[in-house]
Amino acid sequence: MSDRSYDLVLWGATGFTGRLVAAHIRDHAPADLRWALGGRRRDALDGVASDLGMPDLPIVVADAHDRDVMRALAADTRVVCTTVGPYAVHGTDLVAACAEEGTDYCDLTGELQWMRRMIDAHQADAEASGARILHACGFDSIPFDLGVVFTQQVMQDRHGAPAAVVHGRLKAARGAASGGTVASMVNILGEAVTDSDTRSLLRDPYGLNPVGERQGPDGLERMLPQRDDDFGAWSGPFPMSPVNTRVVRRTHALLGHPWGTDFRYDEAMLTGSGPVGALTAAGIGVGMSVGGVVGGLLSAAAPTRKLLERVLPDPGTGPSPDAQEKGFFDVRFVAEDPASGTTLRTRVLGDRDPGYGATSRMLGETALALAAGEATVGGGHWTPGAALGDSLLRRLPAAAGVTFTVLD
Ligand SMILES: NC(=O)c1ccc[n+]([C@@H]2O[C@H](COP(=O)([O-])OP(=O)(O)OC[C@H]3O[C@@H](n4cnc5c(N)ncnc54)[C@H](OP(=O)(O)O)[C@@H]3O)[C@@H](O)[C@H]2O)c1
Repeated sequence: MSDRSYDLVLWGATGFTGRLVAAHIRDHAPADLRWALGGRRRDALDGVASDLGMPDLPIVVADAHDRDVMRALAADTRVVCTTVGPYAVHGTDLVAACAEEGTDYCDLTGELQWMRRMIDAHQADAEASGARILHACGFDSIPFDLGVVFTQQVMQDRHGAPAAVVHGRLKAARGAASGGTVASMVNILGEAVTDSDTRSLLRDPYGLNPVGERQGPDGLERMLPQRDDDFGAWSGPFPMSPVNTRVVRRTHALLGHPWGTDFRYDEAMLTGSGPVGALTAAGIGVGMSVGGVVGGLLSAAAPTRKLLERVLPDPGTGPSPDAQEKGFFDVRFVAEDPASGTTLRTRVLGDRDPGYGATSRMLGETALALAAGEATVGGGHWTPGAALGDSLLRRLPAAAGVTFTVLD
């Protein structure tokens, strides 16, 4: 038994996603898991414990910006699972504390610039302390990251070699974006306008790779519509692909490039097979280009940012339980090995809305896997696919409604 008080602290348990993760942990944790709810408001945390039907659950009250308190929190638990975002605004001290204290950590960030900063600042501490730091453990980027790991495992098993190229496509999804997610996107767009490092990162397809391993054959995400013969449909840019593709490439690098140094991965969104599909794909490209620039400019300047925050959904809000249950996502992969002419088709399906229902279960399972000691890698900044590939491929179908199947 560890000398720390807790196996797991759920940090940000009062937020929209935090409450869902808390319910998932309650329903899926082993009976002897020593876990606690954490946040900045005692009364709200008591309310969450009571709603869970666990009024005696330990509560940890702290502010994310108090470095000493974050360090004490990290020192008293084996794992921290955090939903306190935007992470670039509220998350830095906690990552530093976990890296220093040897505490495993998982979050939901899709904020590329912040992930890069955290890797550069805390990789050495995490390696020394043994802390496994895992970002992007929600819809971005688990279905894509684990989908590629799964596809390559099947390729290897069936054909004796991994694929040289994998194409990932969001085929369909139903669900709304959260206040917290929108707040994070506003933040990253604002930083892209004011910070040249963030702009360089967005222009680097290997921007999350370890230092010295930032080259490869992949280019930037395409904005133009494309007839995607592999999928029998048109495709356009997928807003989350700048994050997902970089996470997949980091996974490949962290695993030691098992799919070859020429491995390529691209991602897009399928929009349909006829002319409407072509028009939709073109519209998304224009929308993303114009929206990115306008959103960035608006969020970079304080007065317009305030205005933007007033019209966007409030933090703490999200889809109803019914909307979560009616939500889903369907991601397809085609793996190709041009040398042998082999192809493989796979699918990752989620049975809840991507942003909340599915995300909270994926994060909850990541936290439970860390608490169960299923990460067999040493300390450092890992991806879900590199640190917990086999564990999550077993856990997610069993407890998160996320399945991985071969279509061929
Ligand atoms: N990757 C994905 O697929 C995905 C999906 C969904 C969400 N997310 C991300 O997850 C994060 C949370 O989203 P959400 O919709 O759940 O947000 P939310 O409802 O606004 O929750 C934010 C949480 O952070 C807490 N918090 C804020 N400032 C704090 C501080 N200074 N000290 C301590 N706690 C503080 C809030 O506490 P109070 O209750 O006291 O305000 C609340 O518990 C966002 O960054 C979002 O981008 C990612």
